[in-house]
Amino acid sequence: MSLQNKIKQTYQKRYEGEPILISSPGRINLIGEHTDYNDGFVLPAAIDKEIVLAMGPSGSDECKVYSTDYDAELTFAINDFKRVPFGWLNYILGVIDQFQQKGLAVQGFNCVFGGAIPIGAGLSSSAALECGVGLGLATLFGHEVPKLDLIKMAQKAEHTFAGVQCGIMDQFASVMGKADHAIRLDCRSLAFEYFPISLEGYEFLLCDTQVKHALADSAYNTRRQECEEGVDLLQRYDIGISSLRDVTLKMLKSHKGEFKGKIYERCRYVIEENQRVIQACEMLAKNNLVSFGKLMYASHEGLSTDYEVSCRELDTLVDATKDLPYVLGSRMMGGGFGGCTINLVASAHVEEFKEQMQAIYQAKHRKELPIYEVKIQDGTRLVTGI
Ligand code: GLA
Repeated sequence: MSLQNKIKQTYQKRYEGEPILISSPGRINLIGEHTDYNDGFVLPAAIDKEIVLAMGPSGSDECKVYSTDYDAELTFAINDFKRVPFGWLNYILGVIDQFQQKGLAVQGFNCVFGGAIPIGAGLSSSAALECGVGLGLATLFGHEVPKLDLIKMAQKAEHTFAGVQCGIMDQFASVMGKADHAIRLDCRSLAFEYFPISLEGYEFLLCDTQVKHALADSAYNTRRQECEEGVDLLQRYDIGISSLRDVTLKMLKSHKGEFKGKIYERCRYVIEENQRVIQACEMLAKNNLVSFGKLMYASHEGLSTDYEVSCRELDTLVDATKDLPYVLGSRMMGGGFGGCTINLVASAHVEEFKEQMQAIYQAKHRKELPIYEVKIQDGTRLVTGI
C-alpha cells in the first residue's frame, strides 16, 4: 500500500470525516552549507523521501495529532498550548503559533502523519513537517498564504518552538522543490533559479552515518553567533558590511590577527563556500562533473577543519571515497555532527559503492550504513485523487 493510502486509512480509522492529504518532501543540498544564515548561496533540491499528512477539522477546540512512525497521539487545545520540552510536536505547535501571530484564524483539527524521511539523518524531516502543516492549515481554514510566507513561517516555527536558529534553506527547498531541478537560492534577496540536474552516467547517493551527536543543535546556534561576531568586528572598519556575504577573503585576511578563538576560520569557510556554490553552478551548467566533485571535497574539508561541524563518522565516509575512482565527489550534508554524506557516484558502480562503503563503515565504526538513492521531486503539495 502506498504511504499516502496508509496515512489516509489510518486517519479514517482514528478520526471522522474525509481528510485532505499533503505530501511534503525532505531535501538534499548539493553544495553551500551553513551559508544560508550568512546571506549566502545554497543549492538544495526536494527529494522523493517525504512526509504525508492527513488533516481534517475536529469541529471543536481540541486537536489530536497521531504520528504513525512513533505510534503516539498527542492532544492539545488550539487556543491554549505551550512549547513542549522536546520532540516533533514543537514543529506543529510552532506553525500554528505563526498562523495565530499573523491573525490567520485556525480551529481545532485532527492530523495523522508519517513518512519515509529518515529522522535525524540531515534530510530535513522537521522542515518537511512544518511546511506540510502550514499548507494543511492554510487549506483547511481557507487562507491564501503565499509560498514565501509559508516558508518564512515554517522557519520561524523552528526558531521559536524547536529552538534552532536555522537559515531558510530547508523550508525553501521543501516548498519550492521542482522535479529534476536543484534550486540555486540567494539567501539574501531570496531570488532563485532552477538548475536542471541531468547527470549523465552519475547519480547522487546518500550514506547515512546513523549518528546525531547530542550537541548538534546548540553547536549550530553557536556557529551562527560566531559568524555574527566576525561581522561585528569587520563592521567597525566598514559600516556597509551587514553579513559575511559582504566580506571578501582579502578583507578578512587583513584583520586576521584581531579575531578571537576560531572566528577567523569560521568566516573564511563561509566566504569560500559561497564562492564554491557559484563555481559549482557554472560547472553543472557545463556538465563538468569532475570539477563539481572537487568542489564537493573542498566543501567538506572546510566544514571539517575550519567550520568544525563534521564528526569522525562523516570524515571516515568522505575519506573512504577518495580511494574509489568512480566517485567524483563527497561531502557531509546539512547541519553536521552526524546525518548523511552526499556522494557523486558513477551509475555503473552503484552496487560496488554500496558494498565498499558498508564494509569500511562496519570495520571502522561497527555500524550498519544505510545508503539512499534519491530522486529530485516537486515540493510540498496537496495530494488529490486518492
Ligand atoms: C540545517 C539548517 C539549514 C542550514 C543547514 C546547513 O539544515 O536547518 O538552515 O543552515 O543546516 O547548511
